[in-house]
Amino acid sequence: MRSRGGGGRARRRALPVVAGVIAGAALAAPARGAEMPDPQRGRLLYENHCVVCHTSKVHRRVPPLPIDLGELRRIVAAWAQGQKLGWSEPEIADVTEYLQSTHYRFPR
Ligand code: HEC
Repeated sequence: MRSRGGGGRARRRALPVVAGVIAGAALAAPARGAEMPDPQRGRLLYENHCVVCHTSKVHRRVPPLPIDLGELRRIVAAWAQGQKLGWSEPEIADVTEYLQSTHYRFPR
């Protein structure tokens, strides 16, 4: 019978857990919380860039477009892009929220 090799104790390895936790905390610290869309900022953006062509009446089409909130966001993004406004994601979200809260009121 051969004795099983490696009679030594498993060497304790100091896992770099502590270092990892500290690094993680440092990275997490400046992370922004999920910002809520701001319909007031959306209103300003909309009034500045979108009412050149239409009043908000266009959002009260009868019957309304059979769309949902995601689709509304897509339409807003498409208009912003078509007008080469260079809107960021939060700006698109703000205007979508403005139109959602003033006209569309899609279920979330
Ligand atoms: C060049 C003129 C023009 C500009 C600028 C414009 N729109 Fe429009 N928009 C229209 C016209 C015309 C319609 C109606 C016909 C259509 O739906 O394509 C419309 C329709 C829409 C609709 C669908 C309305 C509905 O419920 O039927 C949305 C949403 C919309 N626009 C958002 C925007 C946003 C947001 C901006 C600013 C980034 C914008 N538009 C800028 C001309 C314009």
